[in-house]
Amino acid sequence: MSPYPDDLDRWREAARISSRARALGIRSVAPGVARRAVAETVEEYIRSQGARPSFPVNLSRNVEAAHYTPSSDDTELFAEGDLVKVDVGAHLDGAIADTAETVEVGATRRYEGLKRAADDALRAGIAAVRPGGAVDDVSRAIEAAIHARGFKPVVDLTGHSIERYRLHGGKSIPNASGLSGERFVEGEVIAIEPFATNGAGHIENGPFGNIQRFRRDPGSADPAIARLFARFRTLPFATRWLTDPADRAALAAAKRFLQRYPVFLETGGGYVAQAEHTILVGPDGAEVLTA
Ligand code: CO
Repeated sequence: MSPYPDDLDRWREAARISSRARALGIRSVAPGVARRAVAETVEEYIRSQGARPSFPVNLSRNVEAAHYTPSSDDTELFAEGDLVKVDVGAHLDGAIADTAETVEVGATRRYEGLKRAADDALRAGIAAVRPGGAVDDVSRAIEAAIHARGFKPVVDLTGHSIERYRLHGGKSIPNASGLSGERFVEGEVIAIEPFATNGAGHIENGPFGNIQRFRRDPGSADPAIARLFARFRTLPFATRWLTDPADRAALAAAKRFLQRYPVFLETGGGYVAQAEHTILVGPDGAEVLTA
């Protein structure tokens, strides 16, 4: 059976929306701008295109490697010199895209090399994708590109296959070599996402980053919980999105069905840069869907 999605056009469209959303996020980040305002601007754009966010806009900064989205009462402002990862995605009926880029806020330019390491690694990883080829070829290319800039890959974070309504499918794409024995299959949709750091190259769990998801279908026993599940399925969502008090109450009642994500912090206190594209494994190699 071919793993090509049967509605490939829908996946391409979700990816195009995601790529424009990423660019909007990057443009919106500036000194004195609220984190929450940027997240809302990007999510509103995605909705205005007839899509939904695949997950809450992640605006992790500095030593936060991933999984931070503003809470509803977040008052933090971006500051000159912050290193911000804009990690976004749109989905159309479960056809998911996921893409990220890093921006240094203001005019400091202290982390240009780190940002370039992530960008180089993404390019090198994409170039190494072959149908039937080893995942490890991509991991090795990513690692080499980051080392070439004098930095370390964050080895605990990986790229991933994407399936309908499943942001992290069954396959991981490590950012360091020697960790995967798997192969790519033509027709797969995958996200490649190298993270580069000037720290230790590992992450630890921080506080709750305001992102959660249903682990499984909670069933119909509680209609309010069932309604919440119908809205998000197993995709990550933010409490910020639940403006109806009934939904907030359902969320509290649904706790045992939820996976709550902590912010990932670089263990060595290093700054982290990330770059990510969603790609289709085509007959000749990677086709970048979120270009
Ligand atoms: Co991803």
